[in-house]
Amino acid sequence: MRVLITGGAGFLGSHLSDAFIDRGDEVFVLDTGGISKVRHLLSNPRFHYVHDSVFNLDLLDSLAGKTDLIYHLAAVVGVEHYVADPYETLNINVNGTQNVLKAAYKYTRRVVFGSTSEVYGRNPKVPWSENDDRVLGATSIDRWCYSTSKAVGEHFCFAYQKLGLPVTVVRFFNIYGPRLDRLDVGRLFTIFMGQLLRGADLTVVGDGRQTRCFTYVSDAIEATVRAGVEPAAQGHAINIGTDVETSVMEFAKLMLELFGPSKSQLKFVRQEEIYGPSYEDIPRRVPDITKMKTLLGVTPQVSLREGTARTMEWFRRQQPE
Ligand SMILES: NC(=O)c1ccc[n+]([C@@H]2O[C@H](COP(=O)([O-])OP(=O)(O)OC[C@H]3O[C@@H](n4cnc5c(N)ncnc54)[C@H](O)[C@@H]3O)[C@@H](O)[C@H]2O)c1
Repeated sequence: MRVLITGGAGFLGSHLSDAFIDRGDEVFVLDTGGISKVRHLLSNPRFHYVHDSVFNLDLLDSLAGKTDLIYHLAAVVGVEHYVADPYETLNINVNGTQNVLKAAYKYTRRVVFGSTSEVYGRNPKVPWSENDDRVLGATSIDRWCYSTSKAVGEHFCFAYQKLGLPVTVVRFFNIYGPRLDRLDVGRLFTIFMGQLLRGADLTVVGDGRQTRCFTYVSDAIEATVRAGVEPAAQGHAINIGTDVETSVMEFAKLMLELFGPSKSQLKFVRQEEIYGPSYEDIPRRVPDITKMKTLLGVTPQVSLREGTARTMEWFRRQQPE
């Protein structure tokens, strides 16, 4: 099979590329980013890296025409981006998604769209099943533009499906593992890891009681591959994650423990100090994973302790001696 992965040089895309290469498939990656996460694949004759954008319509057309399955993961990701540059977030996540869907529709190629737990917003009723409500704040608060941009992408997916395009939406819940963002930026793991390696305190935003369901990348990738190949997944939105809830404070303590002796301690900071006044944190974010288990046949296997230890080890190996 020939698989196109937009955003395939990113964190999830690089692991998804590995998974399809391991299955014996041919992978085309379309990404504006660097090659550091896919460098190990560049010499493989079944791997093709195209350094370009989902806004290059001719290129998208030719890639869609020669592939059988399309994963659309290209997006602006990360709180710091969607608070700092809402225009770019909305433009890439909404208009870029439309471009990919149009190209897929022309050749009737199956699409898997990478969405997010953020679409549920701050709905207080957890766990969230796929048809639960989206509860968001005012449009004057930039923080909600990422959630909205992905929800619009999902609406386009389901609209195209009504026109005959086979589509699956996967909503990822806090996936972590080797090759996550650069240290000190991006997501909780890399922020804490950067702080640990520098001997700085771990900055816990708010009171640290907000929870997340941290999902190890191999579990997420297994489900994501199945979302593209299982006929039963077509036409569905599916939560991808674990339903084991962990508070940010517990997670910070686990990282301190697994890191071993260090000068770092926990430091509580007000969220306005980190993300500015327009940010609003989500107190609990828990998926109902019944569909992931029944439609995709995947149950998360890797505990937070095991996954954190593996990921820490990977980041430590990247450090200069
Ligand atoms: N990792 C998670 O926990 C998580 C959670 C929720 C949703 N997601 C979604 O999964 C997808 C992948 O996320 P990730 O964690 O791998 O993030 P990532 O930032 O590592 O990957 C996104 C990739 O998209 C590329 N990209 C951006 N604009 C592009 C453009 N115009 N054309 C082509 N490529 C472009 C970037 O260069 C990057 O490599 C995203 O759509 C994201 O919204 C991830």
